Amino acid sequence: MRIPIIAGNWKMHNTIDDAVALVKELKGEVAKTDVKVVLCCPFTVLGEVKKALEGSNIALGAQNMHWEDYGAYTGETSADMLKDHGVDYVIIGHSERRQYFNETDETVNKKVKKALEKGLIPILCVGETLEERESEKTYEIVKNQTLKALENIEKSQVEKIVLAYEPIWAIGTGKTASPEDANAVISYIREVLKEKYGEETSEIIPIQYGGSVKAANATEIMNQEDIDGALVGGASLKAEEFLAIVNF
Ligand code: G3P
Repeated sequence: MRIPIIAGNWKMHNTIDDAVALVKELKGEVAKTDVKVVLCCPFTVLGEVKKALEGSNIALGAQNMHWEDYGAYTGETSADMLKDHGVDYVIIGHSERRQYFNETDETVNKKVKKALEKGLIPILCVGETLEERESEKTYEIVKNQTLKALENIEKSQVEKIVLAYEPIWAIGTGKTASPEDANAVISYIREVLKEKYGEETSEIIPIQYGGSVKAANATEIMNQEDIDGALVGGASLKAEEFLAIVNF
């Protein structure tokens, strides 16, 4: 049985004061013990958030990383630097990184490999654009992204990852995929994993839904058979709403 994992992706929000204040509102309020909660924060607040999370059951995540250990990569951050701050999870391949920062299936694959090598848990994002959905390419897109991201990743390693299906047209738009539709795509992604790694492994890997998850729709989404959690953007910045999703 997969434990649901709900991650808040703060994106480019929260100074240290904002971050610590939000953590204080969340800490101790995660009522469900059978849900894993992760906060994926900007690099600049990781250290202070880790301290603020002390004694809580909430894990710390980052939103990106480089695949090299060090080098002339101005502005980048390595896996070891994330581990310095007690980071456990790292979002890789978010559509905003693919859209604005030249993230490709190849760089996603390099980052997934490095994250696993360093003992970090990748939250690997896949998802189609509105144009791709309207041209009925959703399944083709998510299959290719998944397989390319997992190229040369062994079964024993892939069982440590989290996958997130985030239809790009639902991110930040208030448009949410219907729970049934989201579940259908996630079931398909699980079939892709089954074909590559076998049924047992495919059943181990949690697959989240992301894209305008709110308190109002969280229960219906989370109760879908193949959906194992949520990757939450805007709603994760408001303690009350994020807790309503976490305690769905
Ligand atoms: O990574 C989660 C994010 O892309 C979803 O954003 O604001 O639609 O919940 P939002």
